Amino acid sequence: MNNKKILVTGGLGFIGSHTVVALINEGFKVIIIDNLSNCHTEVLNGIQKITGETPEFHEIDLREKKKVDKFFQKNDDLAGIIHFAASKSVGESIKKPLMYYENNLCGLLNILSFQSNSNLIFSSSCTVYGEADRLPISENAPIKKAESPYGNTKQIGEEIIKDFCKVEKDFKAIALRYFNPIGAHSSAEIGELPLGTPQNLIPYITQTAIGQREYLSVFGNDYFTVDGTPVRDYIHVMDLAEAHVAALKHLIEAKEETNYEVFNLGTGSGNSVLQVIRSFEEATGQQLSYKVENRREGDITAAYANVEKANEKLGWQAVRSLEESLKSAWEWQKRCAKH
Ligand code: WQD
Repeated sequence: MNNKKILVTGGLGFIGSHTVVALINEGFKVIIIDNLSNCHTEVLNGIQKITGETPEFHEIDLREKKKVDKFFQKNDDLAGIIHFAASKSVGESIKKPLMYYENNLCGLLNILSFQSNSNLIFSSSCTVYGEADRLPISENAPIKKAESPYGNTKQIGEEIIKDFCKVEKDFKAIALRYFNPIGAHSSAEIGELPLGTPQNLIPYITQTAIGQREYLSVFGNDYFTVDGTPVRDYIHVMDLAEAHVAALKHLIEAKEETNYEVFNLGTGSGNSVLQVIRSFEEATGQQLSYKVENRREGDITAAYANVEKANEKLGWQAVRSLEESLKSAWEWQKRCAKH
């Protein structure tokens, strides 16, 4: 795989930056495109400290078609594209639907309009399943009506790519449906940048533990689960990153008879909010103050992945424990507090 050039859009973001590290570790040459809307170039220094390499970086907004075309004219020798660049807040998407549809879909269309025979990995989400009828959730589970414009952009994005694959037979794509990515690289040089009030559970837990937040609100304990709090499949971001490398190699080696495949990426097991809180306290020795409050609108009861397809076809499985993920999130939080 040495020196094969890979474009990573959104490569300075949370999952993107960790995937860049995994790609460089595997010998790939990485080029990053990012519009810096939800990250900053400081992440490049973190990648350099971990890998010894500073990937080529272009500040480009994928909605600017002329700039995207110019980039692909100059880089016509890419072995693959991993497309992360998108807005990702469920709550924000409900308030700003047009921004989400424009940013998340125009970016994808501008990339595809320049492709004919490349390999694309698309960053999708378990959100497409909504409240699944059966657990664990398999890739052939019904796609439910999206609960948010964000989730809808992932569903529409998959449909766009699927239809494109039907006409461009030399173009190959894999959609990766992430469950709940958490944690940070073990070096604490990169992680989930805390921009604004965290929407997700783990950054809110670590910011509460470090004293930045007074307490964690537990959104409801009257769900039909082991302890009444919702269950999710929390996967270490480096496990997720390594899954992207496995999926890319699978495409490059053209192991699939079809040119469009979907894979769930999770650990295959679920944990409730209260179980995560307990696990965090045990893993870090930090006591967490929390209050049970009302349910958060749009939350589902439970979701965790059936990961057999990724295990068998990609030869990948998550190897890091929930405790390791939470400890790495805490180490990253302490590192952020110093800056
Ligand atoms: C997890 C659980 C909350 C915060 C979202 C996106 C999904 C994906 C992952 C991108 C829920 C509870 C949370 C808090 C809480 N992102 N919670 N107090 O909603 O499962 O999924 O992130 O692909 O698309 O929807 O993740 O971390 O927001 O919530 O009790 O302060 O933690 O109710 O049960 P979610 P989350």
